[in-house]
Formats: sequence, structure tokens, C-alpha cells
Amino acid sequence: MAIARTRSSAPVLLLTFLCFYAIIIPSNASPDDFPQCLSGSIPSQLVFAQSSPSFTSVLVSSIRNPRFFTPATVRPLWIVTPTNASHVQAAVACGRRHGVRLRVRSGGHDYEGLSYRSQRPEAFAVVDLSSLRAVRIDERSSTAWVDSGATLGELYYAVAQASGGRLAFPAGLCPTIGVGGHLSGGGFGTLLRKYGLASDNVLDAVLVDARGRLLDRAGMGSDVFWAIRGGGGESFGVVLSWQVRLVPVPPTVTAFRIPVAAGDGAALDVVARWQEVAPALPEDLFIRALLQNRSATFESLYLGTCDALVPVMGRRFPELGMNRTHCREMSWIETVPYFFLGSGATVEDILNRTTSLSTYAKMTSDYVRQAIPRRAWDGIFGKLAQPSAGLMILDPYGAQVGAVPEPATPFPHRAGVLYNIQYVSVWSAGGDGAAHIEWVRDLYAFMEPHVSSNPREAYFNYRDLDLGENVVGVDNISSYEAGKVWGEKYFVDNYERLAVAKAEIDPDDYFRNEQSIPPLVPGN
Ligand SMILES: Cc1cc2nc3c(=O)[nH]c(=O)nc-3n(C[C@H](O)[C@H](O)[C@H](O)COP(=O)(O)OP(=O)(O)OC[C@H]3O[C@@H](n4cnc5c(N)ncnc54)[C@H](O)[C@@H]3O)c2cc1C
Ligand SMILES: *[C@@H]1O[C@H](CO)[C@@H](O)[C@H](O)[C@H]1NC(C)=O
Ligand SMILES: *[C@@H]1O[C@H](CO)[C@@H](O)[C@H](O)[C@H]1NC(C)=O
Ligand SMILES: *[C@@H]1O[C@H](CO)[C@@H](O)[C@H](O)[C@H]1NC(C)=O
Ligand SMILES: *[C@@H]1O[C@H](CO)[C@@H](O)[C@H](O)[C@H]1NC(C)=O
Ligand SMILES: *[C@@H]1O[C@H](CO)[C@@H](O)[C@H](O)[C@H]1NC(C)=O
Repeated sequence: MAIARTRSSAPVLLLTFLCFYAIIIPSNASPDDFPQCLSGSIPSQLVFAQSSPSFTSVLVSSIRNPRFFTPATVRPLWIVTPTNASHVQAAVACGRRHGVRLRVRSGGHDYEGLSYRSQRPEAFAVVDLSSLRAVRIDERSSTAWVDSGATLGELYYAVAQASGGRLAFPAGLCPTIGVGGHLSGGGFGTLLRKYGLASDNVLDAVLVDARGRLLDRAGMGSDVFWAIRGGGGESFGVVLSWQVRLVPVPPTVTAFRIPVAAGDGAALDVVARWQEVAPALPEDLFIRALLQNRSATFESLYLGTCDALVPVMGRRFPELGMNRTHCREMSWIETVPYFFLGSGATVEDILNRTTSLSTYAKMTSDYVRQAIPRRAWDGIFGKLAQPSAGLMILDPYGAQVGAVPEPATPFPHRAGVLYNIQYVSVWSAGGDGAAHIEWVRDLYAFMEPHVSSNPREAYFNYRDLDLGENVVGVDNISSYEAGKVWGEKYFVDNYERLAVAKAEIDPDDYFRNEQSIPPLVPGN
């Protein structure tokens, strides 16, 4: 098709042919020639080899989890820090020509570090998008274009500034998360029940594909545009920017945080009740539960005033004993530091991109479709009281997130889901990491009878390689069949359609990692 369309112009045809040739035909050039190839298109100060004095500081700049920054970690051979789209296109063209795979990093928050490290030895480069982070807001149409390298904090801040606090964006709680990974993998926070996932609010995107083409929504086609809104970006190319729908928020919202101590099973009673109440509440009211050390803390955001909230709580969830003294009225943007950064943090603090390397972490996730019986919570809280225990975060679904039909986006955890569980274990240097990781694995096994099954669903953005890894066949392509083990947990019936979209845009499986979507040619 491409050749047919350019037939009228001989120079264009020749150029097209040459590009095609250069990209498709493997040459005998080696990975060592990758930087030389880049030098024609990318200023040398934007490319860091392992021998560069700045390599380590650039690599570590957005690493959150020091588990993936050890002497044994398989690191990139190069880091490329593009400042415009043509640099990314050049990285893809040179990577393909010289047998260097690319891993794309936006905010570096991947729970398994797959944006900057590999499980096995591999010649790869990181394309770090942190210099591509403009946010352009069109207040009139309540939309914005945001580059992948922006953080959620930068996006939230810009939206609040431009709209005088009238608009917001529904996405995750942690302000240093990158837009690129978060929007391509789903993304949820306190606005989830009213406005759905971050990925549900994407209107357009710009992608560099495995042939180095720069494609918008129309150019990439409906299957790929569907896929990058929840199926993960890394399988389909490099998403440079996203057009998103902004959402209205009232000038005053109300937050609360209520701890319920273990007491005589008091925390268990309230948590057991929460399971039925929270997913059925009005969409303006989000109440999550954090379980730790035999007690529970309920955190809430209500899109309205304290006066309006108190009677709703009295009617719908009297067991929590919420009253006016718990209300914290503020603007929506102030809730971002309130929920994630703790007391004393200011709105400006959400612009701080610096991450700390002090906390090691292991996470995994589940979905609950049937309330867990009161008697089972005794055993679960017993696990939370063990040595090396971490915490469980329960995020309620229902309302708008459940109203989207399952095939409409790759994210399948919709109607019927009561809540998401995130199991979290964190420790600091010198801590017994093995014991913390084992606690998560043991609790995950223990929870099996209580959570979704066939498949046991998991949230892609809470990536866990324990769920499975790709197997690369003799054809040098990840196996679709083997990928079902983890793929159907994240995507259920949407896994197959993701694999078909992958085959359309990247049949050679150039963009891949341990949990990227394998290509499936329909009929094969
Ligand atoms: C402290 C913390 C708090 C979190 N809180 C929440 C939360 O409240 N809600 C929630 O939903 N999630 C949350 N997450 C999970 C988070 O949404 C995911 O880890 C997300 O993928 C991170 O995006 P990133 O750009 O920072 O990550 P990266 O590590 O840069 O990327 C993640 C994956 O996406 C790929 N990728 C990144 N950018 C692009 C791109 N531009 N094009 C193509 N592929 C790309 C990477 O190759 C990698 O495979 C949290 C994570 C952390 C560490
Ligand atoms: C990108 O930057 C390069 C310099 O590295 C410049 O030559 C090129 O014109 C820029 N491309 C675009 C699309 O801005
Ligand atoms: C595997 O495929 C990649 C590109 O998709 C290519 O660079 C590499 O040379 C291939 N390796 C083998 C062993 O064929
Ligand atoms: C757990 O709670 C007990 C009793 O309330 C307290 O003594 C202990 O310090 C707590 N442990 C942690 C890790 O918070
Ligand atoms: C509000 O609830 C707290 C306990 O959470 C209680 O100490 C306080 O007396 C209550 N205040 C009112 C006015 O009911
Ligand atoms: C930014 O965050 C880092 C890590 O949490 C912290 O050490 C630093 O002081 C913060 N910088 C500013 C200017 O607040």
C-alpha cells in the first residue's frame, strides 16, 4: 500500500524503499555501531554509553526500587534522552539496524523495573522520555495534550493552574508516576468511581512504531489505538504524547482519614461491611481501606462539602462512625499532597520529580468479585500481624469504572468487580528482603479461595513477574500460547485481541519485554 501510494514520485519511492531496506534486512552491523548510527540524527550529549561519567546518574534518575539497581542488574548498554520526535524515530531505526532492542522509560515506576532493566542478558538501550514532558491545555474544550515524560504531578498542577481549579484528571495517587506507563496500562486513583481510568479518558495519541513511523490515532488504526489504552505501551511502540479529556471538579471537596483500631474485631467488622458498601456508594464518594498490623485506615475523597457528606455517611456507612470532625475541606489539587505526601506537604511539592532510592518493594494484586466472608478476615488479619508483614490496599470499583463494557478497552476488570487488592511489602537497606518477598507470595497463595478465579485477575500496572514471563520461540518471537499464563490474568478475554493488534503493528516482536504482548496472526 505504501509503495502504491507513492508511485507517482520516483524520489519518494526510492527513499521509501531505502528506509524499508535498511530496517527490514538484517545487516551484519553489530550493536557496537548503534551510537555511530545515532550520531547522524541525535546530538551526542543526548546519548549515554555505560562508559559515560553521567551514565549512572541518568540511569538512576527515576529508579524507585533499589531491587533493580544492584551490581547483578542487567543494565542498558546506552541511554538515549530524546528532546524531539525525530530522535525517537532515529533510535528505533538504528536499534533495528544494529540488533539493539529498546526499552522505553517515562516515569520509571514499573514495579519490576522493566523500563530500564532486563531479567536476562540482552543488548538493549533505554529511551528515556523525561525531557519530553510538555503539557498543553485547552481549557475551552476541557482537553490537554500531555507528553509521556511528564509526571502525574506536573499534569495535575498544570490542569489546576490553567482552569483555576475547575478541572482535574482522573489518574493515580503518586505524583512522580510517569504519564507514559500509567496511561498505557490503565491508571486509577480517587476519581476512579466517577470518571473511570486514566486510559478511559484518552482521546488521541502519537506513537512511533517499530518501522520508525510517527502515527496519530487515525494513522495507527483503531486496533492499535484500542490496545495502547490499557494494554501497555511497550508492546506497540513508543507513545510520545496523549490527548486527554479533563474532568470537572467542584471548588471544595472533602477528604477524610479514619483509623479503626483492632479492638475486639472492630476493624474486621468494618472491613467486612466496607466490601458491600464502598462499591455501591454514589459515584462522588470514594472510600479505600488500608489494612496493616491488625488495624484498618479508611481514606476518602468526596466531591462535595462536609455538610453534604456527613448525612450520606450516616445513611450508607454508619459502622465507620464518621462525623464532622473528620472532614478536611480543600480544593481537589490539595488532595494530591494530602493523600500521598503526608502532612505539611504543599501543592508545589507534587512537582518534585526527585525519587528516593531508600525503599525496596514487592507488590502484587487481586480482584474481588464476591465479598469475603467475615470469618475469613480473621485469617487475613492474622497474616498482617506476622513478622515481615506488609499491607493491603483495597480500592473500591463500581460506578463508572464498572459501567464500561469489557471489550471496549483492554482493561477487563469492570462490571461485577467489587474492589482491587494491592499487596505491598516495603523494606529499607539491610532489611530481610527475602522474608518480605516471601510474605507477599505466601499471602497471595492464601488469598486464592477468596478472590476472582478462572482467570485469577490482576492489574497490569501493578506488574508482577511471579505471574509469568514470555517464552521466546525458535522464530525469535514471543509465544502467544505461553503468554496466556500472565496475559489472561491482566487482560482476560482481551488478551487475544491485544495479540492481534501487536501482529498488525510489530509482527517481528521488536518491542518486547518479559511481559509484552506476543503477536498473533489471526488464523495461525
Ligand atoms: C509509588 C508508586 C505508586 C503507584 N500508585 C499507583 C496508583 O495510585 N494508581 C495506579 O493505577 N498505579 C499506581 N502505580 C503503578 C503505576 O501506574 C505503574 O507502575 C505505571 O506503569 C508507571 O508508569 P511510569 O511511566 O512511571 O513507568 P515506567 O517504568 O517508565 O514504564 C512502565 C512500563 O510502561 C512502558 N512505557 C513507559 N512509557 C512508555 C511510552 N511512552 N511508550 C510505550 N511504553 C512505555 C515501559 O517500557 C514499562 O514497560 C504506582 C507505582 C508506584 C511505584
Ligand atoms: C529535532 O532535533 C534535531 C536536532 O537534534 C533537529 O535537527 C530537528 O529538526 C528536530 N526535529 C523536529 C521535528 O523538531
Ligand atoms: C531477533 O529479532 C530482532 C528484531 O526483532 C533482531 O534484531 C535479532 O537479530 C533477532 N535475533 C535472532 C537471533 O534472530
Ligand atoms: C502493631 O500494633 C501494635 C499494637 O497496637 C504495636 O505495639 C506495634 O508497634 C505495631 N507494629 C507496627 C509495625 O506498626
Ligand atoms: C466524632 O467521632 C470521634 C471518633 O472517631 C469521636 O471521638 C467524637 O466524639 C465524635 N464527635 C462528634 C461530634 O460526634
Ligand atoms: C524532592 O524530593 C526528594 C525525595 O523525596 C527530597 O529529598 C527533596 O528534598 C525534595 N526537594 C524539594 C525541593 O522539596
